[in-house]
Amino acid sequence: MDESLDTVLVEFDDDRGVGTLTMNRPDALNALNGQLRDDIIAGLEALEEENEEREGVALRAVVLEGAGEKAFCAGADIGGFSDESAGGSSARSHYDVIREFPAPVVAKIDGYCLGGGLETALACDFRLASEGSTFGFPEVNLGILPGAGGVQYVSKLASPAVAKELAMTGEHVSATRADEEGIVTHVYGDDEFDEEVDEFVTDLAGQAPLAIQAIKKSADMAVHSGLEEGLEYDYQLFKRLLETEDHAEGAAAFAEDREPEFEGK
Ligand code: CAA
Repeated sequence: MDESLDTVLVEFDDDRGVGTLTMNRPDALNALNGQLRDDIIAGLEALEEENEEREGVALRAVVLEGAGEKAFCAGADIGGFSDESAGGSSARSHYDVIREFPAPVVAKIDGYCLGGGLETALACDFRLASEGSTFGFPEVNLGILPGAGGVQYVSKLASPAVAKELAMTGEHVSATRADEEGIVTHVYGDDEFDEEVDEFVTDLAGQAPLAIQAIKKSADMAVHSGLEEGLEYDYQLFKRLLETEDHAEGAAAFAEDREPEFEGK
């Protein structure tokens, strides 16, 4: 499957079970206008439809990247983010759709990752960055704050002090600093970036997909709930996974000293 929406390219690699969405406004450093927000949602829906046409869980991971040499995404489109259309036409934001998407979404960050672009990356399950990438919340320069929870999420991943530093100064920080602060999952050298991301995503896509879906829900639950509620939630997920064919396959593969073949059943 190769599909072109107005501002997002969608690909599905059937062999690995990996979908790729490329935000495609390179001339505006992939700034988020209403169309791009809508197209991210439409791209994820198109990948879900591909999945539904196949047996088990065929879509195992999604990569979200930015087109061009310079940016993952330079934030909201400053040309018109006060317009009503700038938020997109969907009732759910693209941030929510990414967070609630059943397969893990990996932000592949090569270049500027700013403002709403950083918040988009924060909505993803993993942030893999090239060494030359830079991160920041420049909203304060426009007299606003990150509107999609950026300060909240960086406070949880790093610390309130780091969130304040980014959002109050508007300064960009390096990928290495973002990694040290826990904002980024991994940083790779610019030369091996594509290869390392491919390897990470291929490994992720090879894991038992129902377990991966449950782990995503569990980790999201941990952000919102108390420990007791979270433990009970995990236990219910665990009991359900014990009944799956993937669990039987994983145990059999271990006993037979071979690689498991998970189907998401
Ligand atoms: N919106 C619209 N266009 C943008 C943009 C943005 N956020 N960021 C960059 N562009 C455009 C530039 O206007 C320029 O277009 P032209 O070639 O037509 O002039 C093109 O992308 C290339 O940008 P620069 O020439 O500025 O490239 P640079 O390498 O010199 O600088 C940059 C790069 C530091 C990222 C700089 O472009 C910049 O500071 N951009 C603004 C970043 C920003 O403030 N983002 C936050 C927006 S608010 C937000 O995100 C919150 C929210 O969700 C509401």
